[in-house]
Amino acid sequence: MQETIIDTDIEMAAKLLLAGDCVAIPTETVYGLAGNALNEEIVLKIFEVKNRPHFDPLIVHCDSIESVKNYVKHLPDWALQLMQKFSPGPITFLLEKKNNIPDLVTSGLNTVAIRIPKHPLTLQLLQRLDFPLAAPSANPFGYISPTSAKHVKDQLNGKIKFILDGGNCHVGVESTIIGLENNLPTIFRVGGVAIEDIENEIGKIQVKTSSSSPHAPGMLLSHYAPRKPLLLGDVENGLAIYNSKKIGLISFHKNYDAVKKENQIQLSAKKDLHEAAKKLFAAMRKLDESDVEIILAERFPDEGLGRAINDRLQRASVH
Ligand code: TXA
Ligand code: MG
Repeated sequence: MQETIIDTDIEMAAKLLLAGDCVAIPTETVYGLAGNALNEEIVLKIFEVKNRPHFDPLIVHCDSIESVKNYVKHLPDWALQLMQKFSPGPITFLLEKKNNIPDLVTSGLNTVAIRIPKHPLTLQLLQRLDFPLAAPSANPFGYISPTSAKHVKDQLNGKIKFILDGGNCHVGVESTIIGLENNLPTIFRVGGVAIEDIENEIGKIQVKTSSSSPHAPGMLLSHYAPRKPLLLGDVENGLAIYNSKKIGLISFHKNYDAVKKENQIQLSAKKDLHEAAKKLFAAMRKLDESDVEIILAERFPDEGLGRAINDRLQRASVH
């Protein structure tokens, strides 16, 4: 296939999607690798381009709550309330699917993961289409998610025709995934909407992410991983142990004299967890592509988006 085009042309993206192609699209969280969610053959292409196992289900993207209703059997009160508050935005709902969603999209589960992304280009694109878009993050399976069009091209060049360029993603970590377990709203992946904000809306909820229960459906433990080993927490100790190696470092705001300036990345000098989340994946990529031999990362405050940051670093550190 030819070199992948990066452009802001929504018409071109729509044309390719209508013709059955997969196209990378921007969202507020990370870039997605999108295709017609109602067409099993096209969905199969998504799995192939990503090299993703078929047992790992995809998220379906819609442009409105009305549209979501076309693909789920019921929209329970808790989900409607959260959708009205946080959608479009970085939150995905696991809801009982209608038959128009192919089994391949959900890996045979009777729930579909569905969300309304908050990116003007992608919302306009969805409005032009008469089908929703199935889209996993646009990275090869198991690698760090892309937060810019360039990140996508670095890894999928030649494998897809087109990347819709929506600039850098504002949130930078994937959506929060919420569904039911034992009839109680439960978080299965911490992400762009903080647990505290969800609890402010609907009260105390369960959290069952893969680190707390590795067997949650569709939640794989090792993920978002750079190729270099990543060590999470206790940076001082890591610096002492690996002092003979070229060390890369990801910190919240602190500078470390023991590490070369160009090999350390402070994610937010002003201690803002939103800013840190936005920059996290680009920092992991940068160090992975540099000549450092090992990456040390601080553990972030366990609150707000800090939990999603720690979750991604934790998974990146499983080897
Ligand atoms: O922010 C996001 O959610 C991004 C953008 C592109 O929307 N998408 C994303 O997709 O992160 P992906 O495929 O990388 O992650 C989707 C996660 C996977 O862990 C998958 O196992 C889980 O959602 N998932 C999808 N459908 C599910 C279902 N029915 N039940 C449980 N987990 C599900
Ligand atoms: Mg992913």
